[in-house]
Amino acid sequence: MDDRSFTAAQDFLLSAKTFWTTTLYGAVRDSYSEKANHSQDGASDSVEAVAEALEDTTLYQFYAWLERHLQRMKYAGRYGLVPYHEERRREMLEALGHVDTDDRFLELNENLDLPAYYTGVDIHQHPGGVWSDALAGVIYERGARTTTPLLDAAGKDVHERFTDLALAGGSHSNVLDMGCGFGKSTQPFFRRLPDSRIEGVDLAAPCIKLAASLAQKAQSKNVRFRQMNACNTDYANESFDLVTSTMVLHELPPKTLDEFFDEAFRVLSPGGRMVNLDFYCLPDAFRRFIHYGHARRNNESYMGPLAEMDISKLLTSKGFVDVEILPFKETEGVDIDANGSWRFPWTVIAARKPERCGS
Ligand SMILES: C[S@@+](CC[C@H](N)C(=O)[O-])C[C@H]1O[C@@H](n2cnc3c(N)ncnc32)[C@H](O)[C@@H]1O
Repeated sequence: MDDRSFTAAQDFLLSAKTFWTTTLYGAVRDSYSEKANHSQDGASDSVEAVAEALEDTTLYQFYAWLERHLQRMKYAGRYGLVPYHEERRREMLEALGHVDTDDRFLELNENLDLPAYYTGVDIHQHPGGVWSDALAGVIYERGARTTTPLLDAAGKDVHERFTDLALAGGSHSNVLDMGCGFGKSTQPFFRRLPDSRIEGVDLAAPCIKLAASLAQKAQSKNVRFRQMNACNTDYANESFDLVTSTMVLHELPPKTLDEFFDEAFRVLSPGGRMVNLDFYCLPDAFRRFIHYGHARRNNESYMGPLAEMDISKLLTSKGFVDVEILPFKETEGVDIDANGSWRFPWTVIAARKPERCGS
């Protein structure tokens, strides 16, 4: 497959996804509003009622089919990311370059046990997930560029905006990015805090190799990527003043999420903050129905369970204080209702470890 065909096909898929995000989503939403307005008891408050109203309609089935299969085609179709990169395997791996594994940039652990929740599903419909193939990090990076099609045009990157928020009102000399992927979430921290120590951990070796390669090319000296389970790290107690994660919580089963928060609490120094960006605040049953459908169609098994959990109660029970759960504008002026288009329910979930435990 030549570059031009690949680019044209991926551009077509992105345009189709934009149609899905705007026109088609808007039509499904209007169709539901109309049905709810005409029903005896007005707009219903349950996901089941929305499902009852929409699931058998051609419009919703088209919407759902397109969501599932545009994503499949993006990765595995004839002009998908996987076959394109497979044909260029050697040059793609060479482009990653040699990364120092002298503990400065990158630490791999080939004996790390990968949890079954992680290996059992091709997350995002990425064949083999983000961990099983040496090219998975590069493919994930390329795929992530078109996850939210309206975002790039609209302004400042979501990770940059999240970093603004996480760093607001504090000085940070030790930062841990849990589930750092290929380092997109870690980059704004190590760029903006050149005198601080920044660590990124992730289960996926191909992702952290790319993260480290990019950091090395940028000549950043204050960051290290480690292959590690964020729920069970080897950091000493109280070693970070800021622990972050972006788009990780919804990938964890509830029990693992519990362990994740315990670990964040353990490694935070007293007074330190944990700040997560994820998908949580869903304002009504329609958005909830759409979100749960997205989770099924994108192979995100734990998106639904996260949305149903009482996170505030959970964090408080673990000893966190100042719990904040706030909708997050992925770019200025764009929230879940923006332009009537489909958006992720971006949410910041933040909390602080008390100055003195138990106080
Ligand atoms: C959607 S990606 C987000 C990556 C990055 N934070 C970003 O915003 O670009 C979720 C990441 O969480 C990682 N992950 C999932 N479970 C994990 C765990 N228990 N420990 C460490 N990383 C984990 C995955 O490998 C993946 O790279």
